[in-house]
Amino acid sequence: MTNAVEATLVLVKPDGVRRNLTGEVLARIERKGYTVTGLKMVNADRALLEKHYEEHIEKPFFGALCDFMESGPIVAVRVEGNRVVEGFRSLAGETNPTAARPGTIRGDFGRDWGTVAIENIVHGSDSSLSAERELGIWFAE
Ligand code: TYD
Ligand code: MG
Repeated sequence: MTNAVEATLVLVKPDGVRRNLTGEVLARIERKGYTVTGLKMVNADRALLEKHYEEHIEKPFFGALCDFMESGPIVAVRVEGNRVVEGFRSLAGETNPTAARPGTIRGDFGRDWGTVAIENIVHGSDSSLSAERELGIWFAE
């Protein structure tokens, strides 16, 4: 565990944007004390999503996940702070929004909608190595 300033990638997924939760997500990041250092709205294509989610390419939910992520604009955010990778995952809550604890983004705003892909409002990088890789994809020059 490092205590140096690091960066993470946060995505407000299409469900979060559609439900007007972008400001809520950004407010929680900022209230926690982290700094937004990059922000853009993106219509992700399949090629970008296959790179982003390459670890899941063989999973049964992969096609549905990509369809969902292509269903509307995404807000991509670069966030900085000490231990922000772990810190944002903690703000987001666990993957399954039905089980995610109240007080987390997914726990407060997410639920199961009966869709094949889990719609859980946000993505956050799961390690500093993933964060570097993912920031390179979403914030390429
Ligand atoms: P994963 O990396 O396991 O979760 P997290 O976003 O918490 O890091 O999975 C990536 C996304 O794929 C997840 O946010 C929602 C979706 N997903 C499904 O649709 N079905 C599943 O069974 C899993 C595990 C994930
Ligand atoms: Mg993940």
